[in-house]
Amino acid sequence: MKIMVIHGPNLNMLGEREPDVYGTVTLEDIDNMLKKNAAEKDIHLIIKQSNFEGEIINWIQQFSSSVEGIIINPAAFTHYSVAIRDALSNLSIPVVEVHLSNICAREDFRHRSVTAPVVQGQISGFGFQSYLLGLEAVIHLLEGKED
Ligand code: DQA
Repeated sequence: MKIMVIHGPNLNMLGEREPDVYGTVTLEDIDNMLKKNAAEKDIHLIIKQSNFEGEIINWIQQFSSSVEGIIINPAAFTHYSVAIRDALSNLSIPVVEVHLSNICAREDFRHRSVTAPVVQGQISGFGFQSYLLGLEAVIHLLEGKED
């Protein structure tokens, strides 16, 4: 089974980026934890990070037919990218949106996610654990499909 993980803009700076908000864990640390958890379940992860909206859209289009599910942290694009929302809303595979921080507890402009309404669900506020919970959620959704 293959699952895709997409990290949006500025997440490559984790570790040094606003550690009071995002913690000190690096993106590489998160990817390694995800890979370890996935490997235990015999799942192969395709992991990508981009600071460019169009690149993220290209990956969604390109990989959605060859992976079983997607975990996405659209980062700042969460709050305004109708283009990423449109790419996600065209998918028939499970997609879970994750955020390290609790976006509802932050500035007003972060309260709204334009992407959340077109995915299966959102996990927000658990630091790097949000990604691990996101992986669990996608697996849960896929297992549910087999019933
Ligand atoms: C974020 C929250 C967004 O508001 C912010 O723009 C990010 C990271 C999070 O993971 O908490 O870049 O998606």
